[in-house]
Parts: sequence; C-alpha cells; structure tokens
Amino acid sequence: MSDRRAAAPNDLRAFWMPFTANRQFKAAPRMLVAAEGMHYTAADGRRILDGTAGLWCVNAGHKRPLIVKAIQNQIEELDYAPAFQMGHPKAFELANRLADLAPEGLDHVMFTNSGSEAVETALKTAIAYHRARGEGARFRLIGRERGYHGVNFGGISVGGIVSNRKMFGTLLTGVDHMRDTHLPEKNAFSWGQPEHGAELADDLLRIAKLHDPSTIAAVIVEPMSGSTGVLLPPIGYLQRLRQICDEHGILLIFDEVITGFGRVGEPFGSQRFGVTPDMIVCAKGLTNGIIPMGAVIVSPKIHDAFMTGPEHLIEFFHGYTYSGNPMAAAAGLATLETYKQEGLLTRARELERYWGDALHALRGLPHVIDIRNLGLIGAVELEPIPGHPTKRAFAAFLKAFEKGLLIRTTGDIIALSPPLIIEKPQIDELIGGLADVLKTLE
Ligand SMILES: Cc1ncc(COP(=O)(O)O)c(C=O)c1O
Repeated sequence: MSDRRAAAPNDLRAFWMPFTANRQFKAAPRMLVAAEGMHYTAADGRRILDGTAGLWCVNAGHKRPLIVKAIQNQIEELDYAPAFQMGHPKAFELANRLADLAPEGLDHVMFTNSGSEAVETALKTAIAYHRARGEGARFRLIGRERGYHGVNFGGISVGGIVSNRKMFGTLLTGVDHMRDTHLPEKNAFSWGQPEHGAELADDLLRIAKLHDPSTIAAVIVEPMSGSTGVLLPPIGYLQRLRQICDEHGILLIFDEVITGFGRVGEPFGSQRFGVTPDMIVCAKGLTNGIIPMGAVIVSPKIHDAFMTGPEHLIEFFHGYTYSGNPMAAAAGLATLETYKQEGLLTRARELERYWGDALHALRGLPHVIDIRNLGLIGAVELEPIPGHPTKRAFAAFLKAFEKGLLIRTTGDIIALSPPLIIEKPQIDELIGGLADVLKTLE
C-alpha cells in the first residue's frame, strides 16, 4: 500500500479543521482526493465506499454529469449577480421547483448558504412574522434537547447538544427546550419509527404553561434528529406537536437539513411523516452538497404578512450576499433534475426493507446496545468504554476507513446515510464491513 501522506500537502498546520480532532487528524491524515458515484478515492489510491453521502448531503452520488455540466455552463454564462434589488432567472426557477416539491401549503422560498444560515433565517422570520401582524409579545423560541440546528447563535440556542453550547456563554435569551424523543428502555431495536413516546410532545404544553403560550413564537425540531445520533420520532409525536402548535398560535418549523431530498423516502420528512409545518429549513441535498446552499420554505400566511406598506420599501431586512447565487442555483436545478430523472427522492422507500434488515442483523455483535433505521438512514449505538465516552465509536470509524468504508460517528453512535443511488450489493459491503469492524472493537 502506498503512503497516504505522500499525496497530502506537507504542512497541515494552518487549517484549523471544523468539528475535527485536529491533532489526531494531522498525525495520521485521512485525505480524499477524488470521488465518483458511490466512492471516494483516498490519497493513497484506495477506493472508499461512501456510507455517509459525504456529510449527509451527496444524495445523488458523486460527480453526477448533469450537475457537473450545469456548473461548468453557469460559470461561463453568469458568474455572480447581486442578490439585493436585482435578480437572475435561475433563482426564481429553483424557488418554483422547490415549492413544487414541498408539501402543499408551503410555497415561498428564501435562499441562504448553509443549513445554519437557513435556521437563523427561519427563527428570525418567525419572530418578525408575529411582530408584523401585531403580536410582538411572541418572541420565545422552543427547541428540543439533543436537537442540532447548526452552529450559529440562534441555532445553538434552540439546539440541545451540550458540547455545542457550553463554550459559548449565555446564547439567545427567551429560549426553552422540550425533552428529546429517545426512550431506549422502551424502544431499543425498534424497526423504523418507534412505538412509544408520542406523549413526549406534551412537553410543549408544560413549557407553554410556564411562559404562557402567547409569548411563544415558534417551535423548531428536526422531524428526525440526525446529528445527535439518529433519533426517530415516535409514531404520533409530530402529529401531536402540530396539534398543540395550532391550538396555541405557535409556528412549527421543521429543520429538514438532513431529512430533506429523499433521505426518508419522500422529498421531505414532512411528507413521510404526514405533518405539514409552517416552515421547512433545508440545505445539504438541495445542491447535492456541491455548492453551499440552504433554503427556508414558508407558508403563504407567513410571506403575505410581510407584504404590506409602500411598495418601494424593502419588506424584510434580511438576506445574504450569496442568497440564491447563480452557481448554487444552477447546481440546485441540476440536482433536482437528477433526482427526478432517476426517481431518487422515493428510492429510500424502495430500499428501506433491505437496508433495515441488513442493519438489524448487526444486533448481538459486541457492544451493540441499539439499532435504529428509517429510509436510508441507520444508527448503531455502542456501549461506551467506561470513563472514555466516544472512544469506541471513533475506533470503529478509523478501522472502517482502513477497510475502505466511510462511516460517521457521533458520541458512541455510528450513523450511516449512503447516497440514494446505493445498490443492494453495496449495502451488503457497507454493513458487512461494519460487522467485521464491530467484531474487532475492544
Ligand atoms: C438538522 C440540521 N440543521 C442544520 C445543520 C447545519 O447545516 P450547515 O452545516 O450547512 O450549516 C445541520 C448540519 O448537519 C443539520 O443536520
């Protein structure tokens, strides 16, 4: 085997890597230098099966011709156009295509450059919406324990992952959190959505009672929590949340940065779970992860509440230099076209039984304390090494990479989310390889 470091830059000091054990990485770098279809190529020439769609984003697989061509053409035609007070056709076209894909009743789109920015946009929109219609006392934002909504201040405030919050001071005020939906004592090894826990949605009532519902602007949840380790919504939970929000005039925001674009077998998790929120936050799979882009899709009642006052005035003082920029819009349109031509937005549903059964066959292997699955998502939770949380799963990640498999770990949970083009033999290779790794763990 060739030396992986040979093809890497010889000075790794300057780049302070995100969400990475920098010192460990730089001592033994894992460099990716090319990608195509279901595979990466590592710097030493090895093919690595992508079990995580990059970072939950390359849903159509790598280097897809339509998307590559669209980006090449776009840079030749129009590289950048000002986002404020000017437009270009592809941003409007992409917004229309997104509104068509979204659940009925969500039909206006604001563009951002990432999931984190889309979260901030949705939270600000919620507060401003209530103010625009004379309910300025509704300013509180409710999130959920173990929720992940990106890394900006609003997102970590409503988020519920302790390590993402504890270093950053007081965060936003006026935020509260519902309990998470994880009930391992009742739901461990559930196949698909767990049976127990719909009543956890009533935690919103407890919070509403404490603050008075008339002070709450919005609730934000991931329909399925991804980054915290794949926590599925118990059957009936999201329906109950919708009902409570309706009863108390609270907006419901679904953060679909992971569940959007076919990951759970429908364009959005909202359609899979049969619950329509007031806003959907999305990113990642919107451009197949290739050009950074996020979006917030909102209901007409929210959009229309801002469309008042003199017509020459800006209605909403919010936006980014790169909102709906031509390169991202071109990538987004080609991505949606690729999904459509290949039926990818419903493919996870077709593969779900095979995928879920393969995953659940890992039950009984050393240290495995839970397995969770939905669409083309899977999680294998390991018993932590006493006194050394995360170490066992990180060892699995390193060993899997040596075997030519890219998996992801969060805490002691292994999360899998392959590109939606995965074939059954590749599912066997991924899960079979993981089984071999699990058998070798201390
Ligand atoms: C549910 C959810 N929201 C927001 C984000 C943040 O997205 P980004 O990393 O593009 O800012 C993520 C990223 O994983 C996510 O999973």
